[in-house]
Amino acid sequence: MKLPELKIGSLIARIPIIQGGMSIRVSTSALAVPVAECGGIGTIGGSALPVEELQEDIRKAKRATKGIIAVNIMYAMRDFYNLVMGSIEAGADMIITGAGFSRDIFKIGREHNIPIVSIVSSASFAKLAEKLGAAAVVVEATEAGGHLGTMTPLRELFPSIRKAISKIPLIAAGGITDGYEMAEMMDQYGADGVQVASRFVLSEECSVSQAFKEAYLKARQEDIVLVSSPVGMPGRAIKTPFVDKMLACDESIASKECRYQCLKKCDHKYCISERLMASHDGDVENGLVFSGANTFKMKEILPVREIFDRFVKAAESVYKEGTDAQQTAKSSAS
Ligand SMILES: Cc1cc2nc3c(=O)[nH]c(=O)nc-3n(C[C@H](O)[C@H](O)[C@H](O)COP(=O)(O)O)c2cc1C
Repeated sequence: MKLPELKIGSLIARIPIIQGGMSIRVSTSALAVPVAECGGIGTIGGSALPVEELQEDIRKAKRATKGIIAVNIMYAMRDFYNLVMGSIEAGADMIITGAGFSRDIFKIGREHNIPIVSIVSSASFAKLAEKLGAAAVVVEATEAGGHLGTMTPLRELFPSIRKAISKIPLIAAGGITDGYEMAEMMDQYGADGVQVASRFVLSEECSVSQAFKEAYLKARQEDIVLVSSPVGMPGRAIKTPFVDKMLACDESIASKECRYQCLKKCDHKYCISERLMASHDGDVENGLVFSGANTFKMKEILPVREIFDRFVKAAESVYKEGTDAQQTAKSSAS
C-alpha cells in the first residue's frame, strides 16, 4: 500500500524519509538536493561549518530544488545561535537540532515561522520538545551513527516515546537500512516516518572521499564501535587506527592547539573537527568515520534515486493499512 506523506508544520514531504544531517561536509547540498527532489527531506549538516559556507550551500540547494531543505545543527556547537540564524536567513525550510537541547530555539522558530524538529532519545525530552513547540520529534536510538544520546535499541526506545507524543509527527532513526524496516517502524511502531543517514553515505552523490565510502563497504559488524567524543557524549564509528589509539587512551592523539573553537565544552582529548575532516578528505587511518551500527549490511554505492526507489518499493510491498495501522499502533501505545 502507498506510504503516507510526512507533514511537518506546513511542509509536506511526499515520501516520509528524512535524510539525517551529517557534519562535517558529509551531507551537503550535493546530497540534500537529490533527496529533496525524490520527495524526502534533504538535510545539510551545518555543525562546525563557517556560517558563510553554510549559507552559500543552503542558497545553492534552494536554487536547485523546490523540495524541502533542512539544516541540522548540534546544540553542542559554540556557534549554535549564529548557525541557526544564518540558516534561516539563507532560506532553510526547517531546522533540526540534536546533541543537547535548546529551549530558546522554539521561540526563534515561531518568530521566523520555521519548523523546529528536535532529535531526542528519551520520553521526557520528547514531551518537553512537544510542549515548547517542536514541529516534529526524531527518536534517535543507539544504532545511529555520530553522537548518541542513549544505549537503548530503536525497537525498545520507540514505544515509550510513542506513548508520550500525540500531537506532532514522530520519526524513527537509527539503523534503518531498507524499506522493510521503514514499513515495520511505521506499521508496527506507529512512526510517521524515518530518518536515515548511513544508507545515504553510500550514495553516488554523497561528497565524502572514496576512501570514506570504502571504509563503509568494508566494515564488518564488529568493526563498528562505540567511541568517546570531546563533545562529552559517546559516538558510533568505524574502527580505524585512530580509533584504536583513542580506545587505548593514547595521548599522542591530542591536538596541539584548538584551531576551530567549535564546541561549547570540549575535553580536548582530540580535535573532533580535525579528525572528521581527515576522514572526509580521504585520510581514513587518522580520521573518525562516524557510522550507524548496521552499515555492515549495505554493500553497494547507489544513486540517491535508486535508494529511494528501493526503499519505497520494499516499504509499499509490506506496508499494510496505512493510516489505520498507524492509528492502531499509536492508540495501543497510549
Ligand atoms: C557520518 C555521520 C555524521 C553524522 N552527523 C550528525 C550531525 O552532525 N548531527 C546530528 O544530529 N546527527 C548526526 N548523525 C546522525 C544521523 O543524522 C542519523 O540520525 C543517524 O545516523 C541515523 O542512523 P543510521 O545512520 O543508521 O541511518 C550523523 C551520522 C553519521 C553516519
